[in-house]
Amino acid sequence: MRIDIITLLPKLLEGPFAASICRRAQDKGLVEVHIHDLRSYGLGDSRHLDDYAFGGGAGMVLRPEPVAACIDQLRSERTYDEVIYTSPDGRRFDQSQANELSLKRNIMILCGHYKGVDQRIRDRFITREISIGDYVLSGGELAAAVLSDALIRLVPGVLNDESSALTDSFQDGLLAPPVYTRPAEWEGMQVPEVLRSGDPKAIEAWRDQQAIERTRVRRPDLLDQ
Ligand code: ADE
Repeated sequence: MRIDIITLLPKLLEGPFAASICRRAQDKGLVEVHIHDLRSYGLGDSRHLDDYAFGGGAGMVLRPEPVAACIDQLRSERTYDEVIYTSPDGRRFDQSQANELSLKRNIMILCGHYKGVDQRIRDRFITREISIGDYVLSGGELAAAVLSDALIRLVPGVLNDESSALTDSFQDGLLAPPVYTRPAEWEGMQVPEVLRSGDPKAIEAWRDQQAIERTRVRRPDLLDQ
């Protein structure tokens, strides 16, 4: 999988891909992440990128020409399965979208910024608009990092224990059950007996029941779906 991210703030995206699973995925050659600085497509000597909104109102809007130039450059180099725009007015991201997107080969992500990007860019290029939740971030960069992380960990071979992505919360529509490690007793608190029983059937049944109970209490909306 290759992910190209177009941003005004490349520095914001250095950290998330420099460590842990995202770093390892790149080191193993399973994933490529390329960050593109929109500023280098800016207009004129000052590399101008934004302007006032037609019709007035607070906040600046990204002009279409620099964004189109960057997208066109990338599209001339390869075919993209998806061109995603991160914005609070996009469709709310969830595990089923992550699963679907993790099967794609080339993904481009345009990070929203300021008041947003000129609507004509969205109309012309964007195949999917994604929000990572009902709150407003300062820009789409952190959303792009969240999105990319959720996809990268699903790419076959990225996680050492293949089954671990399948037992994540949401993969079966439920939250994950509680987990415990040693010591078996800590500050008077015991690890549930069944987990120490060595009986795989009983352990699985306990985990299933805990997952359902946790989901019922914390996220009943998931059970309705
Ligand atoms: N940009 C600003 N807020 C956002 C959000 N909640 N999701 C995606 N992109 C955003």
